[in-house]
Amino acid sequence: MPITFNKQNMTFTINTENTTYQMAVVEYGLLTHLYYGQRVKNGTDLTYLLNRYAAARASTYNEIPYEEFEKGAARLCPQARFQEYSTFGIGDRRTPCLIGRFANGGGTIDLRYHSHKIIHSKPALMGLPSVYANENEKAHTLIIKMKDKAEKLFVELYYSIIDGHDMIMRSQKIINKTGKPFFINSALSFNLDIRRSDLDLISLYGKSNNERYMDRAPLKHGKFSTDSTAGATSNFSSPAFMVCEHNADEEHGECYGAVLMYSGNFVASAELDYNDRVRLTMGINPTTFNWKLKNNEEFTTPEVILGYTDKGIGQLSRNYHDIIRYNVCRGKWKKEQRPVLTNNWEATVFEFNTDKLVEIAKDAKAFGVDMLVVDDGWFGHRDWDNTSLGDWYVDKKKLPGGMEDLCKRINDLDMKLGLWFEPEMISEDSDLYRAHPDWAIKVPNRAPMRSRWQYVLDITRQEVRDYIIDMISKVIGCCPIAYIKWDMNRNITDAYSLNLKADEQGEFYHRYVLGVYDMFEQIIERFPNLLIESCCGGGGRFDAGIMYYSPQIWTSDNTDPIHRLKIQYGTSLFYPISTMGAHVAYAPNINTYHNATVLQRGVVAMAGTFGYELDPMHETEESMAQMLKMTQLYKKHYFTINHGDYYRVLSPYDQQTVITRIDAWQFVSKDKKSALLSIVQMDNVNDPNEIFIKLKGLDPNKNYKLFAYSDGLENTRPFKSIIKEEELGVFSGEVLMKAGLHYSLIRGDNRTSLIEIDEVE
Ligand code: DGJ
Repeated sequence: MPITFNKQNMTFTINTENTTYQMAVVEYGLLTHLYYGQRVKNGTDLTYLLNRYAAARASTYNEIPYEEFEKGAARLCPQARFQEYSTFGIGDRRTPCLIGRFANGGGTIDLRYHSHKIIHSKPALMGLPSVYANENEKAHTLIIKMKDKAEKLFVELYYSIIDGHDMIMRSQKIINKTGKPFFINSALSFNLDIRRSDLDLISLYGKSNNERYMDRAPLKHGKFSTDSTAGATSNFSSPAFMVCEHNADEEHGECYGAVLMYSGNFVASAELDYNDRVRLTMGINPTTFNWKLKNNEEFTTPEVILGYTDKGIGQLSRNYHDIIRYNVCRGKWKKEQRPVLTNNWEATVFEFNTDKLVEIAKDAKAFGVDMLVVDDGWFGHRDWDNTSLGDWYVDKKKLPGGMEDLCKRINDLDMKLGLWFEPEMISEDSDLYRAHPDWAIKVPNRAPMRSRWQYVLDITRQEVRDYIIDMISKVIGCCPIAYIKWDMNRNITDAYSLNLKADEQGEFYHRYVLGVYDMFEQIIERFPNLLIESCCGGGGRFDAGIMYYSPQIWTSDNTDPIHRLKIQYGTSLFYPISTMGAHVAYAPNINTYHNATVLQRGVVAMAGTFGYELDPMHETEESMAQMLKMTQLYKKHYFTINHGDYYRVLSPYDQQTVITRIDAWQFVSKDKKSALLSIVQMDNVNDPNEIFIKLKGLDPNKNYKLFAYSDGLENTRPFKSIIKEEELGVFSGEVLMKAGLHYSLIRGDNRTSLIEIDEVE
């Protein structure tokens, strides 16, 4: 059995295919973490880890449970012990998971084992996104119930696994039976204590237009934490990290990962203590959280997906990709081929009308596009970003025949129509605001902050959510709208709800996130076939929580392919390619003026949910023909890209040799019959040097035929960009992986190659 309880030594063991997690109930019902790492044999008793380690590390200043006082034994000292779920007030000085106050003001929470059960399913989390098992998959869950020593406060610890995934999902239910309110100050989703100090932390940071850059540094004594207080996950940080051995690389080394399924204020911390032990934590950010848990109420923490591998960072990423795309993403679009879209934002901004949109769609159809997405500006009188949010009805000046007419004309082209919304927001200049000024959040007697001229709706209130969802549903339901882009363009300030009492205002941010999830759920229930792409001023709400509702997310407003390399590399550490919105945009790029070739823009957009964001009117016949080629290539390799394995081959973060910096990545189909290699030179090259790129993930016993599409130039004035196609020959998988593919750098600026790799008998 994958989850077992051993009565003799009171251990719980969770086995996935390649990992083992063990904890024990020791004296006085204390629950102690023992081990998380490489799989060990069934029945292995790891309790010796507690004895040896804890006894050696305790010191005079460490508290011990009062029951032990007489004996003076140090092995149960909370500070020395590995905690499974740490609480505040009992002497564990590392970051606790649970901090709270009982009605008498006391803040000591001393949890002891109460009972447990093992069930063979994966329960969903009330009101929150969570990993689920598919019909053909077996899931198992261990629920350990803990009880406070003095009060009737219970915490249920959930550990779930799904056969075939090397992942453990953790969350907790805090249950108040004390007869009085219990005030939660912090309820993190997990702590993991690791018995070593020689670890690097890999985390993500960024800003608008440059989200999810990778950072890697050795852990230092003390605590590193990254968080959000923006109301959403934010452009600045990400609720996902890894710790790995110093010399771990894509193929080698032990790595632990944690990915939180939450889309609001979070905190993630990694702490190396004076005893050279590491504690990882992640969960709702306590800085903006206070929850009054009334008697008989429960509070559920968001779910965290824990992963471990001894096979390097690449393997850990692929494990996350699999569980997220198949057990987090839902609905028909998780498996079905998604339409290639063109979005009019960078093409027109707010200046468009029905005829213009139809013209864009028609021209884009010529290069294989399946769907037109009408971005911001089709509603109210939104000619600029200072008006009309909340007025989700068609601007007849722009679309005189209404949405029905636009939709019909697009459908007549045999294309689909998608629409942009920003459901959580309200403009001061809107009918909605004039009717319901109190729906915009603000603290009484204070002028609220504006951002992009707009306010945030109080979607902690059911009536506000229902009203907005009804309004949006009318538009989506009036004609066959196939897709919506759900944007959120400002961070939250002035958090306050007129629906909450003074001592409940600390609940606002979490209730806001629950409100967002409820709105998504309502839309999905009403329109189960709708493809939803979420967005947040670029990639500011890119997390595994939102992926439960929307299988693709706009990765960043930065559409420059060279800038995108680092963004997409960082994002790929945890999140699958199928979730990353990526478009071929103008060259020169509207933000950076970088003049990338169609091939380069296409290859980079193919490492995501390939689409376009330009007005074809400005394209030459030649570039339109190249775009058609890119769309065809993407469609041809759709399943390898979106459902295969992803390998990072070279890194855009490496300052490579004097020759040039190169980024390269690979998609390999699960049966290893076909693969796709993308190579992007990040500099201007003047010297066609040759390099050897070692491929990954192929079958060493198969032979593969290689065919390349590369940037070339015709030496005319001005230069003419061409896509050169050539057969590279047949090679064995073994040779390609061990000796490497011979690649000649291409003279010019940021040249690119796409190489098809197909098995030959
Ligand atoms: C921010 C998004 O990231 C853009 O793609 C675009 O939809 C704008 N909002 C529209 O306001």
